[in-house]
Amino acid sequence: MTARVTDFLVIGSGIAGLTTALSLAQHGHVIIITKSNEEACNSYRAQGGIAAAIGDEDSPELHLEDTMRTGVGHADGKSVDMLVRKGPEIISLLADWGTRFDREGAEFALAKEGSHSKARILHVTGDATGKGIMDSLLLCAKKQPSISFVSHTMVVDLIMQNEQCVGALTVDQETGANRYFARFGVVLATGGCGQVYRYTTNDIVSTGDGLAMAYRAGAVLADMEFVQFHPTALNVDQNPMFLISEAVRGEGAILVTEECVPFMKKYSEWGDLAPRDVVSRAIYQETKNGHQVYLDATSIKGNFEKRFPTIFATCMQVGIDPRVDLIPVTPAAHFVMGGIKTDLSGQTSISRLFACGEVACTGVHGANRLGSNSLLEGAVFARQVAKKIISFPPLLFSSWQEDEVSIRLCNDKQKEEKWKQQIQDILWKYAGIVRVKSEMEQGLEELISISEQLPPTYLESQNMLQVAQIIIKSALWREESRGGHFRSDYPETLVDWALRQYKVKEKLQHE
Ligand code: SIN
Repeated sequence: MTARVTDFLVIGSGIAGLTTALSLAQHGHVIIITKSNEEACNSYRAQGGIAAAIGDEDSPELHLEDTMRTGVGHADGKSVDMLVRKGPEIISLLADWGTRFDREGAEFALAKEGSHSKARILHVTGDATGKGIMDSLLLCAKKQPSISFVSHTMVVDLIMQNEQCVGALTVDQETGANRYFARFGVVLATGGCGQVYRYTTNDIVSTGDGLAMAYRAGAVLADMEFVQFHPTALNVDQNPMFLISEAVRGEGAILVTEECVPFMKKYSEWGDLAPRDVVSRAIYQETKNGHQVYLDATSIKGNFEKRFPTIFATCMQVGIDPRVDLIPVTPAAHFVMGGIKTDLSGQTSISRLFACGEVACTGVHGANRLGSNSLLEGAVFARQVAKKIISFPPLLFSSWQEDEVSIRLCNDKQKEEKWKQQIQDILWKYAGIVRVKSEMEQGLEELISISEQLPPTYLESQNMLQVAQIIIKSALWREESRGGHFRSDYPETLVDWALRQYKVKEKLQHE
């Protein structure tokens, strides 16, 4: 086993990880550890874009209002305020680092998405925003002599010493187990956990590793019951599911039944541009009896292939021409609003452990995320982390004891896949778009039974199992419905839920 010491250890190579690394590059040496190759992440897959209040008729106040309303009374005003105010600055920074946002004449082209009161979504090559941003960030990071990439390496656990996070234990197929130590701190930017669900738009790497390892290290996690199901994944059974961006509805596409009847006005005054939780539940209702719903994008006929080249190419590959055909769509797990609880500087409840991007719960999304706020959050909070982490006095590692650790990775991927599928089926069935106590209890029981049999070398499945249990337990605990968490046994959103819980806790503490 080798041990490497660096100044800053960043785990994950999406927009949050790369922005953190680029922001720290002038302050010391950064190691970025990534489980697969650097492109395998959800940031890379992001289509619609990145939200920022830069339009003439827009303002951070309006962006804040939309984010707070969509978060259904659960978003943290201070975090959201910071997010929206820093939006325009982040766009300039990304442009300086080489991202070529689409323009209309001299101005940035701005698109509309669900629950946004203004057109404020910047995009790259139409619908390849994540790829556009990530390619430029990767190019910048690879040019930096102070940034090193360690790819195809799985972080097994965080290393703790004197109640601080000082590094991470890794394993890879070539060299086995290794240790990485960080003088200033460790940044978790590992993304979400969509792969715990049978149907998801998330990359196959999104197995909740960062959430699980932070939990094992004792960090506080919050809001894990709030899972966003994107309403319009292309209904072709594949993992991950291909996303039909919300921006397609922003350009005028509408959801219709098998009889070609538009239905969203029945569910919300925002119609097809209602928040994602509302649209997904509407589709759930419409498809309950085995029906299919479709996206009718034929009104954007003259322009579709130019505005959405990636979506156009993928639809054509499966024999759907969006200019003339209806696109079959279905909801799929897309984003977890909860995560490792952080403050405004990305500091978790563990000293020297930071989190940013989807793995973190900064409070900006509340119970439901506003479209295209996730890339923005990743970049804004990465900058915050970078500012804070350099204020820590560096650690010395001379006294570290080198004991051997034996860790093995499962090398039978097919066998592990079967375990993963069992976990994914359980969560989809029992903790999906609509939840109820009896079913969630059944799901939890089934997960516990898997935990008694799952071999410890199946590291990703172990992480998925842990995160799946956290989601179900959190969903059982919240006896109300709000945003991405809907319970048919508690369908109301309770104004006094937070207060009630506080009183229950207070009472328990006194007993
Ligand atoms: C989309 O393009 O619809 C997804 C973007 C996001 O998740 O915010």
